[in-house]
Amino acid sequence: TGKFTYDPGFTSTASCESKITFIDGDNGILLHRGYPIDQLAEHGDFLETCYLLLYGELPNKTQKADFDYRVTHHTMVHEQMNRFFTGFRRDAHPMAIMCGVAGALSAFYHDSTDISDEHQRMVASLRMIAKMPTIAAMAYKYSIGQPFVYPKNDLDYASNFLRMCFAVPCEEYEVNPVLARAMDRIFILHADHEQNASTSTVRLAGSSGANPFACIAAGIACLWGPAHGGANEAALNMLAEIGTPDRIPEFIDRAKDKDDPFRLMGFGHRVYKNYDPRAKIMQKTTHEVLGELGIKDDPMLEVAMELEQIALTDEYFIEKKLYPNIDFYSGITLKALGFPTNMFTVLFALARTVGWIAQWKEMIEDPSQKIGRPRQLYTGEPQRDYIPLSKR
Ligand code: CMC
Repeated sequence: TGKFTYDPGFTSTASCESKITFIDGDNGILLHRGYPIDQLAEHGDFLETCYLLLYGELPNKTQKADFDYRVTHHTMVHEQMNRFFTGFRRDAHPMAIMCGVAGALSAFYHDSTDISDEHQRMVASLRMIAKMPTIAAMAYKYSIGQPFVYPKNDLDYASNFLRMCFAVPCEEYEVNPVLARAMDRIFILHADHEQNASTSTVRLAGSSGANPFACIAAGIACLWGPAHGGANEAALNMLAEIGTPDRIPEFIDRAKDKDDPFRLMGFGHRVYKNYDPRAKIMQKTTHEVLGELGIKDDPMLEVAMELEQIALTDEYFIEKKLYPNIDFYSGITLKALGFPTNMFTVLFALARTVGWIAQWKEMIEDPSQKIGRPRQLYTGEPQRDYIPLSKR
């Protein structure tokens, strides 16, 4: 039993080699295929980041136009999917719907499940990137009892998604370009983050040769937890609970108290021991969105900014290197964009789908790839003899 290294939470075990994403947690650096996240978020768009993650290089103009066209071509879901949605309770959490529907894609698209065929792998990848916004918007519409809005394919990726979420029948809906740009940037910031829990889940599921859509459903299930993708929802709930800046010290004290399970949501990270570079861009995006919507003096933003300042100068947080992560500001932005809290993790899943697929593809295409099969340190009973029920 002493043969294996015990590494709970895999804090020091590399599970794979990867060329996709690099993180230097001590210095707060995040690179996709070598490009810094702030440059991608500032100058590029989400589909360009998708292309980069999948193919390894930024596209030229023709490649970009072709990729955008191919993704757009796949945005519709099978009409029968509508009925699949209606099988869920109408108050189902949209993440529960996402897990089920993403997995069900495997039953709708048999032709893209031959993972030994490179072309089919790419078709499956494009389908998932294209259909995830449609499915996410359908989950939202279903949860609020409104009819589904079909994709409008002369719009860009983010605008199309906002329209599918917020347009209502018989009313004009114009996408606000500032808000669409913010949505697109939020997608870029969430696109990939190397071997986090959900990505590792997708790789582990995929390592057995499982259907790619089912692997993504496994990733969605893992992302749902509050220590991972669910943190943006939890962070916003926490800011709402704090309510006013004068209550911040009370919550800081609770976060420091070892006997209290409370943690500052949106703070701390397994890898970043410095400011999460995504949190900086997210904070800027929050200000842009609130400015565009004319929201002045948002009480949650006020609490967030003050909480951040207090925590960053507090000995406990300094010593443990706890800084705001991406989830600290994303909730305020998403709420301002009009999304209810139960949609936040859905948006994370939508954006992270490309990262999951890129990592899944990289693994499938790696000739040294083996089925993922961790070992354990057995701490149970030694061998013993069965006792018949009458003698127990
Ligand atoms: N508030 C108060 N104390 C904290 C916090 C926090 N948010 N995060 C970590 N600590 C303390 C923790 O109590 C522990 O103290 P000690 O060493 O005295 O036992 C120490 O810092 C190290 O924490 P850990 O749980 O061992 O660290 P980890 O790397 O396993 O956990 C984390 C990382 C992100 C799960 C954790 O920081 C956390 O729970 N944060 C709040 C939830 C959150 O914001 N999650 C989003 C992560 S970023 C997006 C994503 O990955 O999806």
